[in-house]
Amino acid sequence: MAYFEWADDLAIDAGGPIDQDHRHLVDMVNALHTATSEGRGREVVGPILEELIAYTDAHLRREEQEMARVRFPTLEEHLRWHRKFIADLNDLRQRYETGSVTVAAQLSMVLRDWLSLHIRRSDRELREFLKQP
Ligand SMILES: [Fe+2]
Ligand SMILES: [Fe+2]
Repeated sequence: MAYFEWADDLAIDAGGPIDQDHRHLVDMVNALHTATSEGRGREVVGPILEELIAYTDAHLRREEQEMARVRFPTLEEHLRWHRKFIADLNDLRQRYETGSVTVAAQLSMVLRDWLSLHIRRSDRELREFLKQP
């Protein structure tokens, strides 16, 4: 069983661009978890982390654009969640880079918990709006 399992209730747009992004993020969190739990060094974990943060940032922007397009009513609030998450991630990255060993293991957990909760609770609201013509 994967560290972060994809589940049907994570689906938002029937396998469309948002689901594809989310699935890719799930895969990346699993790769990060594998690397940190195997005790891989900075030369392996560092680039995975960089890529994950860059991809998360790109995903959030794509999602925000889609939300703006369908006039998602709680967009402002949703944007605040996204900004906060990016700030937290950057903070963790900084701590990782400055040598905190425990942060490595914490990272995949924070990402998994945040993503699964955020997708299930907040991104999910987008589902109904995407169904409208
Ligand atoms: Fe999302
Ligand atoms: Fe979101």
